[in-house]
Order: sequence, then structure tokens, then C-alpha cells
Amino acid sequence: MKSDQIRETFLSFFEERGHRRAPSASLIPPPDDTSTLLTVAGMQPFKAYFLGRETPPADRLTSSQTCFRTPDIEEVGKTLRHLTFFEMLGNFSFGGYFKDEAIRFGWELSVDGLGLNPEEIWVTVFGGDEQLGLGPDEEAIAIWKEIGVPDERIVRLPRSENFWQAGPTDPCGPCSEMYLDRGLEFGGVDDRPGDDTDRFLEYWNHVFMTYDLGEDGSLTPLPSKNIDTGMGLERMAAILQGVPSVYQTDLFSPLIDLAEQMSGLKYDSTPEATRAMRIIADHSRGMSFLIAAGVVPSNEDRGYILRRVMRRAIQPVSYTHLRAHE
Ligand code: GLY
Repeated sequence: MKSDQIRETFLSFFEERGHRRAPSASLIPPPDDTSTLLTVAGMQPFKAYFLGRETPPADRLTSSQTCFRTPDIEEVGKTLRHLTFFEMLGNFSFGGYFKDEAIRFGWELSVDGLGLNPEEIWVTVFGGDEQLGLGPDEEAIAIWKEIGVPDERIVRLPRSENFWQAGPTDPCGPCSEMYLDRGLEFGGVDDRPGDDTDRFLEYWNHVFMTYDLGEDGSLTPLPSKNIDTGMGLERMAAILQGVPSVYQTDLFSPLIDLAEQMSGLKYDSTPEATRAMRIIADHSRGMSFLIAAGVVPSNEDRGYILRRVMRRAIQPVSYTHLRAHE
């Protein structure tokens, strides 16, 4: 399935279930949202709706949001799946449906809509956190079991993995992720979801957006219970196109092909060439979208992020591995 088809399958699935399609917002968050420098998730343009400060245009929305995340920047190039810039597909409910329907939608689209093998799907749930004063998410566990996911494929994870927040403050909540087991070709027998290996590929996060996180770490219940989900388009493309890495999907292969043509090297000729071409492909997409959003290179804030990705993309070419023509 081409990436365009995956995006359309996702958005129409949710439109058919009463969601209004919302356009992707800018990579620059609105001026009243200073929690992050760039848009990091599909929920970010909808924060005011979760907080009850504004009325959403519909109580169910779906979108494909362009996102940019910097914490993993050093990982880009080294792994099959890390990116800075990506598209996040999401469905959102503002005070409407909650865990039960969200989880069932997640299962139905994964299995019937996208054709994943139910035996290969594992899920994670919030295992509780003493500091937050919250116990394990028994409700989510019960729903997954009712759908038919066996207990051994429901993994309880701590706050660091399964309590979602976009930044240090603002709307947040326990979450439940869906993973595809890609088999022993990608990892070991003891690997489990959340281990940060390539065997279990996280493809969809379901956030049960329940609290407003204060600067002092306190949780205040939001005016209503909400749903925020995020599916990485690039990861789903890798799964459905049967390729090991996001860089071999139709979203990246034209850029990799161009890097091969211009350097005279093959993507998989050496680990250095692979790493360099992944960095060039990811960062050139990211820098193009940053510039399109109005960011200019500088020494601070968003401008510094742009300068950093530009520098990282230029370095592999000038210093190391892509000079076959010279
Ligand atoms: N907002 C959900 C996620 O980014 O995982």
C-alpha cells in the first residue's frame, strides 16, 4: 500500500465513523503554546479544546499532522525507524467516546482496514505510578482482553513509557500503544514492546487524555475525558510495504535514489553510506518543511534547530563517506 493510500485509509476510516477531517497545522505552534518550540504531535493544535478553553469545530476530529521532534536527533541514521520530521495520523474525541471505542477503532483499523495479522499485534498499557498517585490502567487491560488480545501480549509499562505528555505541562494522560511483532529476524526471543529494539515496532499510540499537568507536577482533571491518538505514517508504510526501515518506503526512496546518483555510492554499500544517506533524507525533508513554515537558520530556538539539522545533513557529505566522485 502506497503512503498516500495509508493516509487516506486512516482518514476515511475515521470520517466514516463521525470524525471531521482537520488540516495539518503549522510546524510552529500557536503563540499561546510555549510548551514546545515545534509541533511534536497531532494533538498540539487541539490543546485549547482539550483544556476546555475553546469549542472544537466538531467533537470528533481526524488529521494527518506534520511533526518535528528533536530528542531523537542523534539516533537518526543509526536505526531503522528514527526520524526528526514525520507525519502523525490521529483521531481525537473531545468529551465524546473514550477508552472502549478508541481501542476498538484501533483494533478494527489495524486488522480489517490495514490487514495486520492479529496474532502479531502486542499492546502496552500504563502500569501505574506512585508519584502520580495512579494505579495500573485496569480498564484498558480489560478492553484489550475483551477484544481477544491474550494477557501475555498485554505489557504493563511505567510512566516513562505509557503516560503521555507533549511537553513539561498541559494535557496528558495514561496511554496504550500498539506494536507489531516483526519476528526474530529483527531481534531476540526475549525482546518485548518498550525495549527499544527493532523486533517490536510501535505503530500507534492511544492517549486517554484526562489531566492537565501543572508546572509543579500536579495533575488536575480536564473538564472532560478525551482521546488523542498518533500513528506514524512512515512506520506503517514500512510495515505495509514489507521493508525493514522507514527509509526504504515510498516516502524516502526517491531521496535515497538521488543521494545514490549524486554520490555514486549504493545505500547499502557500507554502514557509513547507509547512515549518511538516512541523515540526508530525513534532514532534507525536515529542513524543507521548517523553512516552508517560516523558520530561518539562527543561533536560537527554532532557528537553531534548523541550523543544526542543516549542519548535520551537510557534514556526512563534506567530511566522510559520500565523495566517491572525487
Ligand atoms: N499524542 C500521542 C503521541 O504522540 O504519541
